[in-house]
Amino acid sequence: MSFWQDYKRPIMALAPMEEVTDTVFRELIMGISSPENLNLLYTEFVSTDGLCHDQGRERVIHRLQCTDSETTMRKDLNIPLLAQIWGTNPENYYKAVQMIDQEFNFDGIDINMGCPVGKIIKKGACSGLIRNPSLAKEIVQACQEASNLPVSVKTRIGFNEVVTESWISELLSCKPEAIGIHGRIQAQQSNGLADWNEIGKAVALRDEISPKTRILGNGDVESMEDGLERVAKHNLDGALIARGIFHDPWLFAKEHVHRDAKERMRLLWKHSQMFTDTWGDRKNFFVLRRFYKIYAAGFVGAVKTRVKLLEMPDLASVEAFLKEHDVFE
Ligand SMILES: Cc1cc2nc3c(=O)[nH]c(=O)nc-3n(C[C@H](O)[C@H](O)[C@H](O)COP(=O)(O)O)c2cc1C
Repeated sequence: MSFWQDYKRPIMALAPMEEVTDTVFRELIMGISSPENLNLLYTEFVSTDGLCHDQGRERVIHRLQCTDSETTMRKDLNIPLLAQIWGTNPENYYKAVQMIDQEFNFDGIDINMGCPVGKIIKKGACSGLIRNPSLAKEIVQACQEASNLPVSVKTRIGFNEVVTESWISELLSCKPEAIGIHGRIQAQQSNGLADWNEIGKAVALRDEISPKTRILGNGDVESMEDGLERVAKHNLDGALIARGIFHDPWLFAKEHVHRDAKERMRLLWKHSQMFTDTWGDRKNFFVLRRFYKIYAAGFVGAVKTRVKLLEMPDLASVEAFLKEHDVFE
């Protein structure tokens, strides 16, 4: 049942990112990547409490949406997709996983034990669970019991201090299919450098406690080469790449060639069209601004282009702007 066991290694993943890795972005990135380089996808994190609440469900369910075209592409390229969930109540995890299994078409469940955001850790959720290993383990077990979907965890190396050995050992005792480890503690948020030597310590623990668990590293990977080097150096099963995709949307592409302004603007246009087709009025067009900063970069005149694009209120104005700049020729 679990794809993890006989899946190719190293496994290189586009890491989960809220308001980034929705169905549209995943499809867009798959379309410009090589399936040899991009091997795993995650949804944005979605609240188990929200999923288990009548009105809450309406607010969060879009995070699990997959368009038919994304699913077709994913199946053709054989790239698994994990639904990432978070919360504190094992019962709601159990119900949420059953719901996800019955209503959707995911290849696995990933539990977020890494998000450092204040209002979330105040509830004891996400990286807050590093301080509560017994609840964390209860949650993993609830997910494992709820369905046959493989269960993995994404976490950090500590909360206020580095506790890789004790924390990862606790998780490994539940025998998750995989653990993605971001080499920072909660208190660092995104500051400083990720400590890959700490991530590497999980490998020996895994060999001892749960030999089948895959260990993926995360933090500061800038390119495929960089990721593969880190994986090889620390003997890991793979890596997750998040912000690297902002610097280079073609990070997982087969060839690394210069992408000129026109190619970047065409990708921006494709994203804008797919976004509007998929979400219509359900998401604010300004969500695209974050992406416009990515595409309008790395060419002469990029800053001016970006400033203009960030003012555009809708698809029609973006189209007019791009036509004016001969992007469609
Ligand atoms: C905009 C943004 C949103 C994120 N949302 C999530 C999320 O929903 N779930 C999660 O596990 N991590 C989330 N993360 C953390 C990343 O997956 C990753 O662990 C972190 O950015 C470190 O990796 P990087 O150095 O490759 O960016 C998010 C990061 C960013 C920048």
